[in-house]
Amino acid sequence: MRKIVVTSGKGGVGKTTVTASLGRKLADMGYRVVLADADVGLNNLDVVTGADSRVVYDIGDVAAGRCRIFQALVADNESTARILPSAGGGEEMSAQAFRGVIDSLTDCDFVFIDCPAGIENGFHRAVSAATEAIVVTTPSASAIRDADKVLTLLSAYRLEDISLVVNRIRPDMTARGEMMRADDIARLLGTPAVGVIPEDDCVTLYQQLGRVPDFALSEKAFALLAKNIADRTKKCAEIRMPLRRRRRWF
Ligand SMILES: Nc1ncnc2c1ncn2[C@@H]1O[C@H](COP(=O)(O)OP(=O)(O)OP(=O)(O)O)[C@@H](O)[C@H]1O
Ligand SMILES: [Mg+2]
Repeated sequence: MRKIVVTSGKGGVGKTTVTASLGRKLADMGYRVVLADADVGLNNLDVVTGADSRVVYDIGDVAAGRCRIFQALVADNESTARILPSAGGGEEMSAQAFRGVIDSLTDCDFVFIDCPAGIENGFHRAVSAATEAIVVTTPSASAIRDADKVLTLLSAYRLEDISLVVNRIRPDMTARGEMMRADDIARLLGTPAVGVIPEDDCVTLYQQLGRVPDFALSEKAFALLAKNIADRTKKCAEIRMPLRRRRRWF
């Protein structure tokens, strides 16, 4: 079982989006996937995946022994992935208790741990349960600086692999030299990129609908990221300027 924490330092850069989309792609490829919400204070993995109305127990209940792990898992509507939600409680959960819950998920191939923003207790709790890390950043200077700090912190954990996902790339801006390219960001951070995700309005749209539109611009990028993770490769093609096309939303 591979336990991969999705972290960033800076808030709002796309950790939950990457966790949900990457997990669903791997589930579509036939892997058994669990998406665990380690953002216990500001949980939203359940909302983004549209599973919130079906949450009965959460990760805090499992850690406190109030229910069994299978009772807390919620089926995803969009894929065969299962969601281990956090319902806002469990702030007091120790890193050891959290790790125990994650380790009890023995019947799966991948567990993705959606890390809270920041580098405090919640970060430590989420990273301690993982064997690999994906650091998400956007091309903004503040996100890159926070990713750098997080990469330094991660080097103190015994992780098998640390890689980078550059999110919200605007190919038109990178082509004009107005935005840093993903490979420059990866070089600056000294960490190889496993995924380059374009800015895509469909991401916001699907999070409101709780589902993934098939024609999303970012879909191919998430599929490439999933293939890299499954094959343990880091083949990243910088996205070319996309052709403008009309989108049908529904
Ligand atoms: N590639 C993208 N294109 C367009 N919008 C995006 C993209 N990735 C993420 N977003 C939007 O950015 C916002 C923040 O994303 P998300 O919640 O995944 O970030 P986060 O890092 O998990 O935030 P937090 O630190 O608060 O947990 C959301 O509204 C999401 O729809
Ligand atoms: Mg989040």
